[in-house]
Amino acid sequence: MADWGAIGAVKSAVNIPVIANGDIIDAPSASRALELSGADGVMIGRGAQGQPWVLAQIAAELAGQVYRGPQGHALADVILKHYEDVIRFYGPDLGVRNARKHLTWYLERLEGGMELRNLIIRERDASVVLKRLTEGLKNCGPIIEVAA
Ligand SMILES: Cc1cc2nc3c(=O)[nH]c(=O)nc-3n(C[C@H](O)[C@H](O)[C@H](O)COP(=O)(O)O)c2cc1C
Repeated sequence: MADWGAIGAVKSAVNIPVIANGDIIDAPSASRALELSGADGVMIGRGAQGQPWVLAQIAAELAGQVYRGPQGHALADVILKHYEDVIRFYGPDLGVRNARKHLTWYLERLEGGMELRNLIIRERDASVVLKRLTEGLKNCGPIIEVAA
């Protein structure tokens, strides 16, 4: 577990902005990290895997607002666009391999997502993955809780 209090010693010693991170996954943990560290902001790593909108959700919640994140078609569009962007950025060979972890992180959170993940995860052709992903996401259920 990250020692957010230890970041407080750094914050007291320097005159530049300090950003706390480690084990921040939601608004309560972000709030606690800010409180214990006195930091100027927080960063989120693993907690954003498969749900990059969690940053906006946490920011909204800390501001007393609610942001549910993308649902249904909008969620499928985020996943498909992310996949296309990874392929475009890394090229088809490296891109297909790099994107596998992102697909797993997204799909393990969706009802029925792991069946789809297992259907596409070894495929080497990006256009085949994209086609199966586009079709498969139509049959996936909503976001489910996954074990940390
Ligand atoms: C897969 C993975 C890759 C990471 N790569 C880097 C890196 O290249 N440079 C770095 O400074 N930290 C890296 N980190 C550390 C994270 O930036 C972060 O400090 C750490 O994961 C704790 O924050 P978290 O609990 O929000 O994930 C990496 C962490 C993970 C899990």
